[in-house]
Amino acid sequence: MSNPTPTTAGPAGVEPDGAPRAAAGIELRGLVKRWRSAAGPVDAVRGIDVSIARGETVALLGPNGAGKSTTIDMMLGLAEPDAGTVSVFGMRPAAAIDAGAVGAMLQTGALIRDLTVRELVRMTAALFPVPMDVDEVMALAGIEPIAGQRTNRLSGGQTQRVRAAIALVGDPDLLVLDEPTVALDVEGRHAFWATMRAFAARGKTVVFATHYLDEADAHADRAVLMARGRVVADGPTTEIKARVGSRTIRATLPGADLPALGALPGVVTADRHGDAVILTCSDSDAAIRALLAAHREARDIEISGAGLEQAFLQLTGDDDEGERR
Ligand SMILES: Nc1ncnc2c1ncn2[C@@H]1O[C@H](COP(=O)(O)OP(=O)(O)OP(=O)(O)O)[C@@H](O)[C@H]1O
Ligand SMILES: [Mg+2]
Repeated sequence: MSNPTPTTAGPAGVEPDGAPRAAAGIELRGLVKRWRSAAGPVDAVRGIDVSIARGETVALLGPNGAGKSTTIDMMLGLAEPDAGTVSVFGMRPAAAIDAGAVGAMLQTGALIRDLTVRELVRMTAALFPVPMDVDEVMALAGIEPIAGQRTNRLSGGQTQRVRAAIALVGDPDLLVLDEPTVALDVEGRHAFWATMRAFAARGKTVVFATHYLDEADAHADRAVLMARGRVVADGPTTEIKARVGSRTIRATLPGADLPALGALPGVVTADRHGDAVILTCSDSDAAIRALLAAHREARDIEISGAGLEQAFLQLTGDDDEGERR
């Protein structure tokens, strides 16, 4: 919110390519970042290209050290790329932040001490051109009960909620969240995502880094999987899961004839656990139709895709080919 930086966008709200700035989302082009530390250089981000449309909710997934936080730091102008460009709504990150267009919840960083929670949220709101109503944000973030508490006397989960409130209070167009639910209990996590979905439903853009694959699956339109500083998959979570194959059908079907089930169209293998049968399928659509045609008595039917977890391991676990050269 300091450091006024000139925007690199074209004149009168028009991109250099002629597209209106209002339509521009987030563009990461050829981004490279090498950290230099005492232990030697670390190639944290090795050339990534990601486009995020306005209104999209995108999850950045990847194992520890994949480069997620480094990417986020560059999106927020907190780290300068060694190569490549970042454009946030047609502006450089610092300009977008100065314009009040960006709210962020970073992985590290403490709250300002010796203020009450309400004072801190109110103070943050005052930094933005068109903030949300402070009470509304406090309610949204579920921090009304601790409004009068000092910021240095909060539990880990309460601190996270306050940080979420601070990220939201400026009513930014882009919200960037680096592992936002880490310290939250189950209820807190539910409440957090309900808040974020309501926020996204207002046409806002949300980018979050997470290790929780189920969160990406449940709350993102799209997942960008990173590993070793590169993007290894980028697409709707359903598509990423589909890339790694099979689905499973489970059903209660006492006394089922396993060889017959295994021979149904689309079924690869059939197994039994008690009264339950488990069909691994190459084509679950064909298999479920065939199963129901043959066994109207089948019940408690569940069809599950390959978990994002499985996709994740498969896609990020590739060898380092090309990087050891
Ligand atoms: N400020 C820094 N100085 C030196 N090296 C850094 C710095 N920040 C990150 N790194 C290194 O860059 C690589 C990528 O780190 P980054 O924090 O971007 O990963 P991440 O995907 O966010 O991981 P995590 O899931 O653990 O948060 C790591 O090897 C890390 O040690
Ligand atoms: Mg990180």
